[in-house]
Amino acid sequence: MKYINFNNAGSSKPLNVVNKEINSFLEIEKNYGGYYAVLKYKEKINCFYKNLSKLINCKNKEISFLTSTTLAWNLFFNSLKIDKNQNILIFENEYGSNLIYYKNKRHNIKIVNIKKNGKVCFEDLKKKINKNTKVVSLCHVASQCGNRIEAEKIFNYVKELFPEVICVLDACQSIGQIEVDVKKINCDVLVGSGRKYLRGPRGTGFIYMNDKIRKKINPMILDMKNAEIIGDKIKINKSNIFENFEFSPSLQLGFSKAIEKVNKYGINKIEQNIISKSKYFRKKLENFNQITFFENIDTLTGINTLRIKGINSVQIYTYLLSKKILCSITRPSSSLLYFQKIKVKDLLRISFHQYNSYDDINYLVKCLIDLIKKKAII
Ligand SMILES: Cc1ncc(COP(=O)(O)O)c(C=O)c1O
Repeated sequence: MKYINFNNAGSSKPLNVVNKEINSFLEIEKNYGGYYAVLKYKEKINCFYKNLSKLINCKNKEISFLTSTTLAWNLFFNSLKIDKNQNILIFENEYGSNLIYYKNKRHNIKIVNIKKNGKVCFEDLKKKINKNTKVVSLCHVASQCGNRIEAEKIFNYVKELFPEVICVLDACQSIGQIEVDVKKINCDVLVGSGRKYLRGPRGTGFIYMNDKIRKKINPMILDMKNAEIIGDKIKINKSNIFENFEFSPSLQLGFSKAIEKVNKYGINKIEQNIISKSKYFRKKLENFNQITFFENIDTLTGINTLRIKGINSVQIYTYLLSKKILCSITRPSSSLLYFQKIKVKDLLRISFHQYNSYDDINYLVKCLIDLIKKKAII
């Protein structure tokens, strides 16, 4: 029996065609050498931009292929000039690594409240935003809490009050599981990873930056791919702006294939499929009042977090692993602000994807119920 992967928010199972694509390009590199292989397959590699721009509704040149969300996010913030008197608005679901960046740089951050129902408090947002706000940075779906945040409503509101504010969306957990359209959402910058809901390979990620922001940005890392020396000046190539010379073409091709499949299948169908699975799972356990779920059912995605009275997260995780079920434990390192707010030390995270079957979910439910019953006897 294979392991059942309910840790899609960590890393999902890549599609077979993705692995095939990677392996076949590695063979091509073996035959032609790394550089000539790229020359020969340039057009195919460039399909990555076509596929991703179709998915998020932008132009090819607005995308940079990178290795992770964290790299994308740091390249952006470290390339942006933020004055001492300016502030950055973030929200209580902020990702742990992003918070480390603000603290390390000693940026003036203002934290906007998220209500008990998982929705952003607009009164608090209005109170905290001002003419010195440089960036509003929002996590679409958090790693440690599967509520879908109303990005479109928030960014439209922000832009109406202060049109010059840069709206940044961390779409690491939302891309591939719910619709992410940069025009609809009204964001200037968006970052994401390949290995989660897009079912791409590990070590892939991207950034989208619109024309307006790209014109103002000076990338923190320049090389002969994104810059050239003309006279005594440096000219920056603003297309695919954060890309440097060295990259992994096989991973880019694999990532491209994964996105192509999402486009073919249709993100709305994937979204409905995943949400239905979360709802099904919760319904099956609704009579067990030992279990507390931490998401609002109305804003549910594929990410479910829970605690079981009398059984700690490590015990649940270990028991499920012994039954060949993969899930994860999420801790304050993934979002200090969130864990400080809910006052628990960890959560068990079960994250569904479209490829998870209802039979597998039934098996998970059975295992959880068995564990609860076992504990009740002991
Ligand atoms: C919401 C969110 N943002 C950012 C990241 C960082 O992504 P990566 O590990 O690909 O850099 C994660 C990773 O889990 C995440 O869940």
